[in-house]
Amino acid sequence: MAEPLRIGIAGLGTVGTGVLHLLETNRALVRARAGRPIEAVAVSARDRNKDRGVDLSGLRWADSLHDLAADKDCDVVVELVGGSEGDALDLARSALSAGKGLVTANKALIAHHGLELAGLAERHSAPLKFEAAVAGGIPVVAGLREGAAANAIERIYGILNGTSNYVLSEMEASGADFADVLAEAQAKGYAEADPAFDVDGTDAAHKLAILAAIGFGARIDFDGVAVSGIAEVRASDIAHARTLGFVIRLVGVADCEAGPSGSRLLQRVRPCLVPDHHPLAHVTGATNAVVAEGDFAGRLLFQGAGAGAGPTASAVVADLIDLARGRTGHPFSLPVGELAAMERADPGHRVGRDYIRFTVADRPGVLAEITAAMRDAGVSIESLIQHGRAQDGGEVLVAMVTHEGEERCVTRALELLSGASSLTAAPLVLPILRD
Ligand code: NDP
Ligand code: HSE
Repeated sequence: MAEPLRIGIAGLGTVGTGVLHLLETNRALVRARAGRPIEAVAVSARDRNKDRGVDLSGLRWADSLHDLAADKDCDVVVELVGGSEGDALDLARSALSAGKGLVTANKALIAHHGLELAGLAERHSAPLKFEAAVAGGIPVVAGLREGAAANAIERIYGILNGTSNYVLSEMEASGADFADVLAEAQAKGYAEADPAFDVDGTDAAHKLAILAAIGFGARIDFDGVAVSGIAEVRASDIAHARTLGFVIRLVGVADCEAGPSGSRLLQRVRPCLVPDHHPLAHVTGATNAVVAEGDFAGRLLFQGAGAGAGPTASAVVADLIDLARGRTGHPFSLPVGELAAMERADPGHRVGRDYIRFTVADRPGVLAEITAAMRDAGVSIESLIQHGRAQDGGEVLVAMVTHEGEERCVTRALELLSGASSLTAAPLVLPILRD
């Protein structure tokens, strides 16, 4: 009988227990597809006495992650601890340095240290895989790295965070405001106790940086992702968008554009207005969706569950099956030394349309002041919305959609308006996602 692939699992939370459950439930199928058994032999977590709802008998308990990385009976370490630094990073470094394979679902770790870990993997001939780190159960890492390998990819974009998509689509369905929907999502267990990285865009940025590196064959540049989250989106923005034929989604977009001295990279995560007819407009709840535009394949759409025990375990075990079959490959599609160090692109020259919402004092001359700034900055207004009057002479919302124009013009208009007495809060600019 073929030798089993022996794995040590670090972290027995949602994903770790999900992996054990999948390996048990689909044992025969996994074995057939892997060509040999995949056996969990050791596990580690913080609390040995916690009831995890899975059978841990027959598995060695490693008292520390260090012990797990050093375990001579493990061929592969599966890191499901989380966090970009500290124990997860130490474990990843020691496992690869010991020549063991490393499979991880940890997008923060890969976004911050992916190049270093891929370098270690190369030096020690130890495979590194992280399908589960991006969009949970959706096989988008393999899809880009292998399925679309023959294409020049110019653009990758998508809904990469399930929590924020759930919050935005619930706001859309209920008309409630951000804070109320988030509190309800936490109470129901959909959002984490600390959902900061989900709603501020950081989690989506981790995933976008990883996809951009794979798709464009570039060195990962997480610090180059411009990020804004969904906390400033109000129920009225969603209602305005609806009137105009859009929905609002948190979208990560990575563009590879030609520059005079090579390709340049533009990576942004922002709430966007998505036209009703666009496939991303129909992605609701905690679902994720990724679009990659290839020069020969055209538009590829990957969609499915971006989180949860089952979908994430599915991606982890897919990586393990690859390793059992000896399919390793370069984590970022090319050897580390061949990944391009792409310059960051300046978005100012990019042409697009924006939704801009102003919070203003309800008094004469306010609209004139705003439209004068637009005129002076060369921004052309396509439509304008102002509903009702403030009850007590307080603030009202004025929203507009611009005609196509260079981004630098909108930036200039907002500079002209900064400190204007008629604005009672900073304007919110939401780009309109182009088809
Ligand atoms: P959980 O918080 O549910 O589980 C984390 C596990 O790691 C726990 O078992 C915990 O031990 C253990 N752990 C934490 N710190 C240490 C440490 N220092 N030493 C040993 N064990 C430790 O996390 P998830 O399962 O949700 O997530 C795991 C990884 O997968 C993360 O990187 C996450 O971003 C990623 N991921 C998660 C998804 C999801 O749907 N949950 C989806 C995609 C990716 P103990 O139980 O004893 O406290
Ligand atoms: N917290 C993430 C999300 C799931 O809400 O999409 C793990 O990637």
